[in-house]
Amino acid sequence: MARKKIALVGAGQIGGTMALALAQKQLGDIVLIDIAPGVPQGKALDIMEGRSVIYSSALLTGSNDYADLADSDVVIVTAGVPRKPGMSRDDLLGINYGIIQTVGTAIKNTAPNAFVIVITNPLDAMVYAMQKVTGFPSKQVVGMAGVLDSSRLACFVAMELGVAAEDVNAVVMGGHGDTMVSLYNYVSVGGIPLPELMDRETFDKLAVRTANAGGEIVELLKTGSAFYSPGLSAIKMAEAYLLDKKSVLTCAAMLNGEYGVQDLYCGVPVVMGAGGVEKILEVSMTDSEKLAFEKSVEAVKSNAEWVNAQA
Ligand code: APR
Repeated sequence: MARKKIALVGAGQIGGTMALALAQKQLGDIVLIDIAPGVPQGKALDIMEGRSVIYSSALLTGSNDYADLADSDVVIVTAGVPRKPGMSRDDLLGINYGIIQTVGTAIKNTAPNAFVIVITNPLDAMVYAMQKVTGFPSKQVVGMAGVLDSSRLACFVAMELGVAAEDVNAVVMGGHGDTMVSLYNYVSVGGIPLPELMDRETFDKLAVRTANAGGEIVELLKTGSAFYSPGLSAIKMAEAYLLDKKSVLTCAAMLNGEYGVQDLYCGVPVVMGAGGVEKILEVSMTDSEKLAFEKSVEAVKSNAEWVNAQA
């Protein structure tokens, strides 16, 4: 079987983290592509030189040329600008939109069969723009946000209860912004529904921290935004696709009628396998969760309308 090719467009903080994680997991050969001269080449070589320590035979290359996207099985896009303290993700809309146009056109021309995972913020609008510019089937273009937001909530629940994070499963839906919706009834701890173990008031505090978790990291780092957990979350999605795992993950997927929403990317649980987004799972919500989800959809919609107005 031929080795898989995974292209990372954007070799910054998240791109570098993903390259290392991919090399460790040996999911395929990796090409890092960035406009910064030397950066993708340097990061690729640095990880190449560590492979004998981690027993990896993955091959890594760095490039400043989109032509090296050719024949990629998976393309993960972080190209763009991250937040600085005081900025919201939406403040990045104008600048990152132009970058997604450039990168999306290159992907369309060089890697028409690739599964595309977008991480660039504001996420829901950028993945929407990516699907529009490539014209790829929507199951082939997906945004990384829900895996991260759900992992953040799982982390906070685990810390509160003093249990292993790996035993906590959480679902956070909606847009990747402060309107995201953490679902109390869909958190499980070693298979036990969270309401058995934690009261609603405590959970609500953790949900607020989850919605602001990206900003909390930005305030601490000062020079950029979170990169380890976003990188790891995207690799989980790439793995689901490459290994046809049929993983149930929350991610920004194109809604075509599901949840009563049309032509919009928004965070929902999906089944992810070799077919990309193979199925969108429509789950029930309480009345207040439904309202919160609708509010989140409205927030995402206004950015999508901005994207459509540029076309
Ligand atoms: N083509 C390729 N790479 C580009 C382009 C482009 N047109 N424009 C910018 N880049 C590169 C930058 O040179 C930089 O190396 O994208 C990289 C972004 O890396 P960082 O600045 O380190 O940002 P990172 O923390 O990785 O976040 C990237 O993901 O989570 C989001 O909000 C975050 O939008 C940001 C993105």
